[in-house]
Amino acid sequence: MQTILQYAQIICQNNQELRNFCDLNISLRNKNLDPKTTSGSSLVRTLDFKSSDETFPMVEAIKKHADEAQWRQTYSLSEVGKDFANRHCYLELIGPNGHFYSESIRGFIAFWGENLNYKWHSHEAEEIYCVLGGKALFKTKKETKVLKANETQFHKSWESHAMETLEDPLLAFILWRGKGLDHLAKMDN
Ligand SMILES: [Fe+2]
Repeated sequence: MQTILQYAQIICQNNQELRNFCDLNISLRNKNLDPKTTSGSSLVRTLDFKSSDETFPMVEAIKKHADEAQWRQTYSLSEVGKDFANRHCYLELIGPNGHFYSESIRGFIAFWGENLNYKWHSHEAEEIYCVLGGKALFKTKKETKVLKANETQFHKSWESHAMETLEDPLLAFILWRGKGLDHLAKMDN
């Protein structure tokens, strides 16, 4: 997991929006979490994610070390349905429950298969997405846009957002800061 963290730190350092959001160049204690798979995580290793020069090393490191990660699912079957639950998963790289401990920042690596609809949801923590591989439609109540590798999207505290993957699977690096750091996203009703 150390390799993945190092590439995350490099991406954060070299991307202005991420760098402005938080500083990842701090020493973070490895909690040596036990690896865990989900039905979606077995796909990560096998898929071809369209990356950029900036994100390629991190995408390859995630695929190579996917078996060392503690993969999780955010939502229950009743909330998102079987297909979504089977083809979406995330790992907490940095954070209170992450591979590397932090109380002030949370960093997730998340995977979605192609043609998935991540419905409107929100959370208290402020958030920035950085696409590592693939592309997807990112929606807020104000705009919808396509994001590709090394492009970012910021969400304010409690700002509703949704996302749809198109013909490509998506791998994203997601950072959280501020209040509500220890809670996960909730579906909006
Ligand atoms: Fe979010």
